Amino acid sequence: MIEDVKEFVSLIKDAKKIFVLTGAGISTPSGIPDFRGKGGLYEKVSPDIFDINRFYEEPSYFYSHVKEMLDYIKNAKPNPAHYLLASIERLYGNITVSTQNIDGLHQKAGSRNVFELHGSFEKAFCIRCGREYKGEEVFKQLEEGKIPRCKCGGVLKPNIVFFGEPLPEDALYESIKSASEADLAIVIGSSLVIYPAASLPQYALNNGAKLVILNIGETSYDAYSYKKYEYPVDEFSKKVMELLK
Ligand code: OAD
Repeated sequence: MIEDVKEFVSLIKDAKKIFVLTGAGISTPSGIPDFRGKGGLYEKVSPDIFDINRFYEEPSYFYSHVKEMLDYIKNAKPNPAHYLLASIERLYGNITVSTQNIDGLHQKAGSRNVFELHGSFEKAFCIRCGREYKGEEVFKQLEEGKIPRCKCGGVLKPNIVFFGEPLPEDALYESIKSASEADLAIVIGSSLVIYPAASLPQYALNNGAKLVILNIGETSYDAYSYKKYEYPVDEFSKKVMELLK
């Protein structure tokens, strides 16, 4: 591993602009299961728990299956991979992080240039009257065994992106811009199968960037990568951090 760590460190030091795309695999060492990896959520439930039409028809289906995941998210702390990205931002300032994750762990680790492509649990909205709530309201009502609802009786929808919904415009725009300007693109912990997030490395490749992937398991960009590192993200990041300091 050490030779790969050294190579990764020199790629970071040589880069002018770094674009990072993260997925659920960066947060598994923080105790949040991924979707398609070993032991991932989709081994237990169908991806249609995140289908927007299904949510409108039967919100209890989403809420009953996602409660366990919310418990993991609530208790999760950043791991060395999140801290590594925050350190690179502090040391060099030339990095943006676009994430498909809804766990807020990049921000908790101290990253500032973060674009949340799939939203987050920070806020929730009433699907009837549009009133905004803090994400905690969703957690609170779920813990009381209820389907989270607004004062008006409408169901609350967490501010996350479901299948069939558009991505937040700003996050997508800023991510495309960052990827298109990068000379180094790093993907961490994503199978790169869900679009449009998975199209982002292509913008970096179009700019002539080197694409490196830190992921255990196949991704749809393996053939286009400059280098693929198949190591646990936390162990690898810890070693990178030691050399960067
Ligand atoms: P996936 O579950 O598809 O991919 C996670 C990848 O990380 C897998 O290839 C794992 O093998 C790998 N992995 C897991 N833990 C790892 C570790 N500790 N070290 C190294 N690699 C590890 O997750 P995403 O690509 O993020 O969207 O999935 C994309 C989207 O699909 C999600 O945002 C979600 C989901 O449906 C929506 O719900 C809209």
